[in-house]
Amino acid sequence: MAVTIKSPREIDLMRTSCKYLAEMHDMLAEVIAPGISTWDIDAIGDEFIRKKGCIPNFKDYNGYPASICVSVNEVVIHGIPSKKKILNEGDIVSLDAGMIYKGYHSDAARTHAVGRISEENQQLIDVTRQSFFEGIKFARAGNHLHEISAAIGNYAYGFGYGVVEVFVGHGIGTHLHEDPEIPNFPCKSRGIKLKPGMTLAIEPMITMGTEEVEVLEDGWTVITADGKNAAHYENTVLITDGDPEILTLI
Ligand code: MF3
Ligand code: CO
Repeated sequence: MAVTIKSPREIDLMRTSCKYLAEMHDMLAEVIAPGISTWDIDAIGDEFIRKKGCIPNFKDYNGYPASICVSVNEVVIHGIPSKKKILNEGDIVSLDAGMIYKGYHSDAARTHAVGRISEENQQLIDVTRQSFFEGIKFARAGNHLHEISAAIGNYAYGFGYGVVEVFVGHGIGTHLHEDPEIPNFPCKSRGIKLKPGMTLAIEPMITMGTEEVEVLEDGWTVITADGKNAAHYENTVLITDGDPEILTLI
């Protein structure tokens, strides 16, 4: 599939989809606390999405059973919400979510502290978030995609962290996953040339130890192979004539 360039009308719809998603993440940040179940987080998010008149794009995507991926500690991505999984003080939890507004998708992820967390967990969260911002310094028309990838990966490697390679970011628009794939590590090729109107979901997944991951028997839950913690940070970004626009931040 070719990389799509969105028209001004499409960009407006993406903006709305992404703004609602940013609002939801800000709201969910406030409900994260010791004692809440990952099921409740999903239920609160799902209700928000529907109240906005949107559709949760993860639900039933290839059979994924929930609207929000809730991934605790060594779970990197695609954690399945469960009434039995209760957040504890000291955990870190990644929330990955998206929605469809008038046919246009949004996608963003945040990793939060549950109560007080260790300094090493806080650093993992902070570096993962910052790696995204290091990457988008290169998200400019005329640059090549893998300049973003290299900047993300090299920043994370500087802290001795692992960068997950088997899952990557992606284009986004009328589909949740569009071309191009967006790696979070340096690549041999340059990648496509960036153009105004491209919308990209850039999403570093960073681990404290190995970059190797495993998928649990539920077919979804992705954990680190060494059991060490991981963090995830993602925004939907618009390439423009000038600075990139981060559509899923308010
Ligand atoms: N946010 C994820 C991504 O960027 C999507 C989660 S997969 C789903 O690919 F099945 F849960 F939707
Ligand atoms: Co994504």
